[in-house]
Amino acid sequence: MQINGATTLVTGANRGLGQVYARELVSRGAAKVYGAARNPAAVTEPGVTPVALDITDPGRVAQVAGECADVSLLVNNAGVLKYSTFTGAPDLAAARAEMEVNYFGTLSMCRAFAPVVAANGGGAIVNMLSVTSFYTNPLDASYGASKAAAWSLTNGIRVELAHNGTLVIGVHAGFIDTDMAALTDAPKVSPESVAQQVFDAVEAGQIEVLADERTRTVKASLSRDQELIYPPVQEFWDSIVQGTH
Ligand SMILES: NC(=O)c1ccc[n+]([C@@H]2O[C@H](COP(=O)([O-])OP(=O)(O)OC[C@H]3O[C@@H](n4cnc5c(N)ncnc54)[C@H](OP(=O)(O)O)[C@@H]3O)[C@@H](O)[C@H]2O)c1
Repeated sequence: MQINGATTLVTGANRGLGQVYARELVSRGAAKVYGAARNPAAVTEPGVTPVALDITDPGRVAQVAGECADVSLLVNNAGVLKYSTFTGAPDLAAARAEMEVNYFGTLSMCRAFAPVVAANGGGAIVNMLSVTSFYTNPLDASYGASKAAAWSLTNGIRVELAHNGTLVIGVHAGFIDTDMAALTDAPKVSPESVAQQVFDAVEAGQIEVLADERTRTVKASLSRDQELIYPPVQEFWDSIVQGTH
């Protein structure tokens, strides 16, 4: 699909990658860019129309799908990361919060907007996933589980919505230079690079974006994950546990 002239909606558009997605859509000539955020007053990007939306509120998600019935490109960007291990976390709160936003929130948006984008010509749904959809790192274990669930969701709705002519794109990335990755000094890709790759994919009809070299390497290693992916993860985690990292 062409972004020029399209009506679009980005969740979590008030900061980080979502703000950059919204900016890139404006610069590519989108006719309208709805910027959804829990606090719509924080959506300050020029040319972006603020919309109040917490994606974990199914009633509000349904209302927004009614109010923004002209959308043909939905970008499910909103997400949370609690840096929580499976067995070391004090309780299930972080795991539940990540699943609630990253999986159930995204699912709720896909369900509400599938008929909207179909009615507007087929359009596209972009789901912001992660390299951690592909493997588990203890540092962000429960986040990875939620992104793996969202990857499964993305593959499933692609099949379910193909007859509507809806393009469903999964976007996987390692660290991106936003607040979410502020705690680490590991190499990061810029949000601008991710946004450009994603909207090039929308325009090219491409179903997957692997946004950086590490993500491409991990995806290519999946059939041999226990040999190629997990031994260095184990080594890294052992060094954390032993305090030698
Ligand atoms: N940064 C990375 O290294 C990285 C790597 C791979 C994938 N990702 C994914 O990329 C996406 C964007 O992340 P980011 O890096 O821009 O993170 P960020 O700077 O922490 O921004 C997260 C955005 O999600 C919004 N959000 C959180 N919960 C929400 C909810 N219940 N309803 C609506 N909006 C909600 C936040 O809104 P508030 O301002 O109200 O909190 C904020 O706008 C996420 O899906 C993330 O998992 C990030």
